[in-house]
Amino acid sequence: MPRTYSGDLVIDRLEPDYIRVNRANWDERVEIHLRDEMGFYGVEAFLDGEDVRPGVEKEEMGDLAGLDVLHLQCHFGLDTLSVARQARSVVGVDFSPKAITAARDLAKRIGLSDRAEFFLAELCTAPTLINRKFDLVFSTWGATIWLPDIWAWGEVFSGFVKPGGRAYFADAHPSASILDDTDDLLMPKYSWRTPADCPDRFEEDTTYTGVDARIENYRTFEWLHPISDHLNSLLRCGLQLEFLHEHETIPWKMFQSLEEIVDPVTGKAHYRMPKGRVQMPLAFSMMLYRPKESQL
Ligand SMILES: C[S@@+](CC[C@H](N)C(=O)[O-])C[C@H]1O[C@@H](n2cnc3c(N)ncnc32)[C@H](O)[C@@H]1O
Repeated sequence: MPRTYSGDLVIDRLEPDYIRVNRANWDERVEIHLRDEMGFYGVEAFLDGEDVRPGVEKEEMGDLAGLDVLHLQCHFGLDTLSVARQARSVVGVDFSPKAITAARDLAKRIGLSDRAEFFLAELCTAPTLINRKFDLVFSTWGATIWLPDIWAWGEVFSGFVKPGGRAYFADAHPSASILDDTDDLLMPKYSWRTPADCPDRFEEDTTYTGVDARIENYRTFEWLHPISDHLNSLLRCGLQLEFLHEHETIPWKMFQSLEEIVDPVTGKAHYRMPKGRVQMPLAFSMMLYRPKESQL
């Protein structure tokens, strides 16, 4: 595949337009998310030293001491740097130049530039820039919906896990993501398996943090992938399953009808179907590992 190198961004000349369209949208969101007017991201708390990851992620990722960690689709680095405070080293990857610039600035501001490195790369090109394996690779909350090919994701994700290392993933449950909540009614609207060449197209000129700021690049292309494809894409690359969990709660208000409850780990808001209504899985998470004796 023809590639050019521009600064630290590998540009695939065959990169489909929808990836470029999504990047423009994400680039614009960075500044709004950094300002964090509604406190959605907890930027202030983070600068005060708090680990701002959702409780489920903290609990399931466990003790990070002494680990070399890779965070794929790291956005502007809050989760990455929360991990950096506890791990031996962290590498973050994202395809948004503004996100990577912001992440590097934050790392400097909290004095962790020596332990946290950030790479600008489209997910599939990350292995061409980062020639290392890690003790723990993770990606969470709104990750694979931006990727047309879940099998390519599985290869990249698993390819960074060293023998004896682990891979953690947590995201919205596809059974919930297929629903639309117009008029407070949850109705299936999106295919549970979006074809790579036929993404769902959205036009929303605000972001999900609850502020009014307008986004000029308001169009996005997104894909849903079944849980089985997420899991099988990693298993077929030599990882083994440690756990797969489904959760009735999710860290953001995915549907207007969701009820706010308190995350028992962080004391912050997270959400579930209202009490008295039928509960459904809103999120899933999984941990896999590469056996120690395996060849890469
Ligand atoms: C919802 S955010 C993930 C949030 C993350 N949990 C965090 O720590 O803030 C999705 C991220 O994926 C990135 N992204 C989307 N498509 C990508 C791609 N093809 N390659 C690399 N990064 C991508 C976006 O720039 C954005 O930062």
